[in-house]
Amino acid sequence: MTDRSAQFAKLKTLAGSASNIAQLFENEPDRLENFVMCEGPLRADFSKQAISKEALDALLSFAAGCHLEEWRAKLFAGDTVNTSENRAVLHMALRGVGGSGSVQEVVAAMREKMASFAKKIRSEGRYKSVVHIGIGGSDLGPRLVADGFGAAGEQSLELRFAENVDGASMNDALAGLDPASTLVVVVSKSFTTQETRMNAEAAREWLADALGNKAGDNFIAVTANREGAESFDIPSDQIFDFWDWVGGRYSVWSAVGLSLQIAFGPKVFDAFLKGAARMDMHFRDQPLQENLPVMLALAGIWNRNVLGYSSQAVIPYARRIRKFSAFLQQLEMESNGKGATRDGEDAGLTCPIIWGDEGTNGQHAFFQWLHQGTPGAPVDFVAVLKDHESRPAHHAALLANCFAQSEALMLGKSADVVRTELEDRPDAEAIIPQKTFPGNRPSTTITLDELSPFALGHLIALYEHKVFVQGVIWNVNSFDQWGVELGKVLAKTILSEMDKGQTGAHDPSTAALMALARGDKPS
Ligand code: F6P
Repeated sequence: MTDRSAQFAKLKTLAGSASNIAQLFENEPDRLENFVMCEGPLRADFSKQAISKEALDALLSFAAGCHLEEWRAKLFAGDTVNTSENRAVLHMALRGVGGSGSVQEVVAAMREKMASFAKKIRSEGRYKSVVHIGIGGSDLGPRLVADGFGAAGEQSLELRFAENVDGASMNDALAGLDPASTLVVVVSKSFTTQETRMNAEAAREWLADALGNKAGDNFIAVTANREGAESFDIPSDQIFDFWDWVGGRYSVWSAVGLSLQIAFGPKVFDAFLKGAARMDMHFRDQPLQENLPVMLALAGIWNRNVLGYSSQAVIPYARRIRKFSAFLQQLEMESNGKGATRDGEDAGLTCPIIWGDEGTNGQHAFFQWLHQGTPGAPVDFVAVLKDHESRPAHHAALLANCFAQSEALMLGKSADVVRTELEDRPDAEAIIPQKTFPGNRPSTTITLDELSPFALGHLIALYEHKVFVQGVIWNVNSFDQWGVELGKVLAKTILSEMDKGQTGAHDPSTAALMALARGDKPS
């Protein structure tokens, strides 16, 4: 048993005695005060987690014992916290927090270059649409934020995305667009990603067919591999850089957000960065017990390592951030979905499965499982207090549903109550367990005062730092992603064999699938 799992086992002794949430409210008169934290436009209510104040204090001491404060200091100082790739991790510097003077200088220069480019495009009026090509971290952040900025209502160019190597992705993105008034922005940190390169080639052909040798003007690249983009024939002055100390899934704040700046304007993007910076400073400066990302991370650790939940649902009750759970799947699972510690040992239980969809839609799909399925999952509810849609009745109903779900998950419905409702029904004994809700299912409710760009930046940065804290506690490197490599390598081999009509050395199942794709009769 590793040292950490021994400590989780110790924490489990605290869980048994005090984990009935409704009971905890009775036992702890100050529970709301102790478990609610506010920062800027964001309020997080952890009081419906199945953890007592005493257990929380023990968990905080445990976190401190994992050298969390030292790791946090290293992160902001720009030390090499991504040890397996020998890199610093400084996405906060993109928001003006942390990093050396030289880092701040290159960031300021890039921000200036992005803003003036975006202003030029917006004022010229030559372009009506932007097609953003990228995948993973070069797609999910901009896609989430593009919808989220919609609440600010300041979009002046259409923004479309193409990510998948499925031809439908490119076809849908280009459908009905006029090449002359379309700017293509190719985003790839490595500039080697198969999907992005194929989509970029397709877009370039589409432009060239219509515009001939003028096509290059409409083509922009954002990358940390300038040579890669240049060898793709993108002129040097049409390349926007970012750096190896910005992880792909933490990159929306960099030039990866260029399409957002163009579509929504530099002012909106600046507010987004400021919101994140405020969360950075909160995370950097607040003691662990008053620290929002720490608390969010510890709630997750408690649910995963002490209570044993294997998944975590995230349900935004805000349509404009409905892609939040998809974004978090990469942020959390690519960062902390690891089986080995930094020292190469067995990491034990790490990142749970992150999943979810927008409320209220989810209520009519998987909420049955959340309420009565086994074992259920902790939920993060995210709601926006302000109505941005001028539909106050809709908004009240949306919020009421959100609040009702967390209450129902916590309180459940007892067999006695169901029995009374069933009165004299002859098959009552069989029906009662089916209509009973076990309750005591943990959740956190995060509310934003409004869905401003500032608040959205604040929210995303909260989860970024949560991931960092959990990575420290699990002792994994949250900033590499070796687990995505094997499949990529095999896909290259399979594609090249399929192109040549060959089947190399494969297991029988894979060989049969390749034969099927070639049009051979299935065996
Ligand atoms: O395959 C995973 C990954 O490397 C992610 O980490 C990254 O966000 C995505 O692919 C896209 O990579 P790139 O920006 O280099 O094209």
